[in-house]
Amino acid sequence: MSATDQIEALKEEIKNYQAQTEEELEQYRMRFISRKSVFGELFANMKNIAPEDRKAYGQTINEVKNLAQDKFKSLIDALNQQKSDAEDLDVKDLTLPPIPESLGSIHPLTSTRKRIIEIFERIGFNLSDGPEIEDDWHNFTALNFPENHPAREMQDTFFIEKNPDIALRTHTSSIQVRVMENEKPPIRTLCPGRVFRNEAISARAHCMFNQVEGLYIDKNVSFADLKQTMLYFSKEYFGKNTKIRLRPSFFPFTEPSAELDISCFICDQKGCKICKHTGWVEIGGCGMVDPNVLSNCGIDPEEYTGFAFGMGIERIAMLKYRINDIRLFTENDIRFLRQFKSVNV
Ligand code: PHE
Repeated sequence: MSATDQIEALKEEIKNYQAQTEEELEQYRMRFISRKSVFGELFANMKNIAPEDRKAYGQTINEVKNLAQDKFKSLIDALNQQKSDAEDLDVKDLTLPPIPESLGSIHPLTSTRKRIIEIFERIGFNLSDGPEIEDDWHNFTALNFPENHPAREMQDTFFIEKNPDIALRTHTSSIQVRVMENEKPPIRTLCPGRVFRNEAISARAHCMFNQVEGLYIDKNVSFADLKQTMLYFSKEYFGKNTKIRLRPSFFPFTEPSAELDISCFICDQKGCKICKHTGWVEIGGCGMVDPNVLSNCGIDPEEYTGFAFGMGIERIAMLKYRINDIRLFTENDIRFLRQFKSVNV
């Protein structure tokens, strides 16, 4: 076969090549594209061509080589097309209604926490974080807990080690201690987080729950600022007609201390099961930071004053969404969680 005939035959072969499978495509690649392709042999033949014809011969081979490469691309495209057509045909019944996509929902504790944070962020509170495993100093001693305070004892606190005491934090006030130790006033911060108490689990109490505590320290911070801040939050969260009530209370780390109640938004203070017919529901504790706590954390109580507050996120979510069992938050029952699909965060 003359060189020209051989090239013509190759051209025909390339034009007519069909690759139905990956293997056939690979065979084509080996024969026309790879380093061991037929073109190597054709170029090697150059020495047998009369010198005056060599240029034309070289050009012809290059043209065929380009043809082979173009064909390779179109073979790949055709094979891909064939695959996707096959997939389309795989749909069993095109008249079936589509299966609705089941989207997850935001956990009610997450959305409640986010909403609380947003409200306080608007009046200048930032966020602080701290460890869930705490030492005695940050959870108790710096917060002015007396040596023999019952909250330190086994029935309330999950101790991990004794002497020196290491425990799961019982409140996020421990974060506030860390902030006061590390930052200079003015301090305006929120401390959300998980806390642990050794309590019997029931519909109303759990050994693990979430809090958001807040701390504001500056010159001339007064009880009036605390009251106004609590009123602002309560109106923003529970509705603009909400009233607040502060009941005298006791915490080792605040003086004076108070329990914060809001007017019952469920019965409009007419009396219902939620407010136990009192018209008020408790949402947290608060007070002016005890001067001992400030000096324990390196802040001069002669120069600065501050207020602190703390609330349970579960409690707020339970009131807001009328959830009657705290255990539902951690049971991961999909039927419970699905009910919060429409709650935006
Ligand atoms: N740390 C208190 C608790 O866990 C809440 C609180 C915080 C009370 C700040 C007063 C001031 O119960």
